[in-house]
Amino acid sequence: MSRTVYVNGDYLPEEDAKISIFDRSFLMADGVYEVTSVLGGKIIDFAGHLVRLERSLNELDMQKPEAFDDLLDIHRELVRLNDIDEGMIYLQVSRGSSGDRDFAYPSADVKPTLVLFTQSKPGLADSPAAKTGLKIISIEDQRWGRRDIKTVQLLYPSMGKMMAKAAGCDDAWMVEDGAVTEGTSNNAYIVKGNTIITRHLGNEILSGITRAAVLRFAKEAQMKVEERSFTIDEAKSADEAFITSASTFVLPVVELDGAAIGNGTPGPIAARLREIYLEESLKAGV
Ligand SMILES: Cc1ncc(COP(=O)(O)O)c(C=O)c1O
Repeated sequence: MSRTVYVNGDYLPEEDAKISIFDRSFLMADGVYEVTSVLGGKIIDFAGHLVRLERSLNELDMQKPEAFDDLLDIHRELVRLNDIDEGMIYLQVSRGSSGDRDFAYPSADVKPTLVLFTQSKPGLADSPAAKTGLKIISIEDQRWGRRDIKTVQLLYPSMGKMMAKAAGCDDAWMVEDGAVTEGTSNNAYIVKGNTIITRHLGNEILSGITRAAVLRFAKEAQMKVEERSFTIDEAKSADEAFITSASTFVLPVVELDGAAIGNGTPGPIAARLREIYLEESLKAGV
């Protein structure tokens, strides 16, 4: 069945939605995005995603779309129109189209393009991967240097996912200067005893909205959190490992480059954090 999507102020059947071939997100990857999950028809962590979107726009000197202050209403309307119970809402803002191709940014009268669409994923919260765990490979991090900005330049993460698939695995963790940065579309964690270790924030990784919530819940549950770099060798000898993202919540990692992590089954801390995250998110969804 055709979805209803949002383009620059209009709610349209997906087949009628159009943007210019000169749009800078198409020609230059000059766009930023957010993915927000929906559970029980409620939007999860909306405030955090909105703050990060505003930061991404500011970092790139990109105008806010006119409808910026209406984004929650637009999210809700798309959930309603598409009858989403569990799934995701994808939002993209690009620098728009000046009607030609040019490296220079267009003048301020060129308005940003705003596109949103839903993805229905029944059973999202009950993912089988939460029970089986993920198999991960490590790959070199070959992305650009401003990974803190959530841009639509996702070719290398796509390549990473294909490399993982070719190796019979689920995903890849990227490594730079000997340390893990993050997963292709998620933040990466290891657990040693009662301590959760995840890379510190900086330009090298995306400041995950799920990461912020999970670290807060971990501290509230008296778990220790260390925000620092770790190596693949340290990860292989960890008791547990896991990932977080808005679309996967918390998922355990059970294998890294062919080596079992811990006893090779999902660990209790990842399971507990997933449970707390889902519980609290359902309560706080808007
Ligand atoms: C590279 C990268 N890191 C981390 C994340 C997790 O961020 P969030 O928890 O806000 O989804 C994502 C999500 O898409 C990502 O693409």
